[in-house]
Amino acid sequence: MFDSLVERPADAIIALMEMAKADASPKKIDLGVGVYKTDDGATPIMRAVKQAEGLYLTEEQTKSYVSTIGNADFRKHMVDLIFGVDYPALTEGRIASAQSTGGSGALRIGAELIKSSGKEPIVWVPTPTWANHTPLIGSVGLEIKSYPYYNRETLGVDYVDMLDHLKANAKPGDVIVLHGCCHNPTGADLNSAQWDRVAEFMRDQELVPFIDLAYFGLGDGLTKDTYGLRKVGETCPEVILAASCSKNFGLYKERVGLVAAITTSPDQARLVQGQFGALQRRLTSMPPDHGAAVVARILGDAALRQVWLEELTEMRGRIKDLRKDLSNALRVQGAEAMAAAIIDQNGMFSTLPLSVAQVHVLRAEHSVYMTNSGRINIAGANSHNIPALAEAILAVL
Ligand SMILES: Cc1ncc(COP(=O)(O)O)c(C=O)c1O
Repeated sequence: MFDSLVERPADAIIALMEMAKADASPKKIDLGVGVYKTDDGATPIMRAVKQAEGLYLTEEQTKSYVSTIGNADFRKHMVDLIFGVDYPALTEGRIASAQSTGGSGALRIGAELIKSSGKEPIVWVPTPTWANHTPLIGSVGLEIKSYPYYNRETLGVDYVDMLDHLKANAKPGDVIVLHGCCHNPTGADLNSAQWDRVAEFMRDQELVPFIDLAYFGLGDGLTKDTYGLRKVGETCPEVILAASCSKNFGLYKERVGLVAAITTSPDQARLVQGQFGALQRRLTSMPPDHGAAVVARILGDAALRQVWLEELTEMRGRIKDLRKDLSNALRVQGAEAMAAAIIDQNGMFSTLPLSVAQVHVLRAEHSVYMTNSGRINIAGANSHNIPALAEAILAVL
């Protein structure tokens, strides 16, 4: 059987991670994989997580199975956190949710739900998008197409082209994947007025928004980062959400996420909830509990929640400060547009206007690691390496 298998190419970001790990240069700057780092280059366990884990260790009574839709307290706290307790679809009982195995698991269950409808919509993803969107969503057998999103000339969102393209090409019932905030890989987000317009557009064209909310809390704050999601949820009858706790709780390896759907009625919500459970059952039976229990412990305890909010604010502030510092260091003739874009963009990533050849020179001659597309993880920069990083980027321009 195995002799018929073909070699699969290594995942580009994992390969980049390995390459950076193997580089022993003391001047190495690793801006590859999307994890938050401190000024010392560490990815520590968040204080609230450590405290909650300590408490949970003594409180936990059993390792017995939980549920195909995961931890109930986690689901409740997450839905309240993301939408707000007064959100109409929530108070009206129109939101279904399930804990998932990270944001990736949420995307997968969301895709399975779409496939289960039997309607065979096309799923539209932005250009560019997170490299795993197409494999994760496409592997359930859905057709994927792209819509223009990021303009490499203006270094901003190609908002008009995006809507024109979807108007001309998407048909009613098609699903549109949108990054809720902190677009990966560009950091270029829709502003509130654009979200308002996109929400109306989706409603009028009868499109279904599928919001990927992997970085909420790390852009402009929890309320602003969820604005787009809440807006489309107030405007369009049906919305799918894939949220992750990997970044904002630093729980990457624990694999914690939430898949949710805004539906038109409590009956529909019950039906979708049942689908979530059944879909998860046939994929991995149940999501892992530890990370979800920790998130539930934090969000359900006023003191721990405050500790988490403070640390999230620190992380967000640090990313913004790094953006300012890198932008200032790049503010020289010929790099002004890049410097300005780094400030305007949001969250952990920016895509620099560099060619693949320039990215390779950065790697070979300066030990600066970023993806071939020029995506950098801003949190990989720090107060020690920003001058050298800016110098290297300017040298290859
Ligand atoms: C845009 C986007 N969506 C989803 C995910 C999935 O996150 P998780 O690690 O929680 O599966 C990521 C992770 O990098 C991401 O960047």
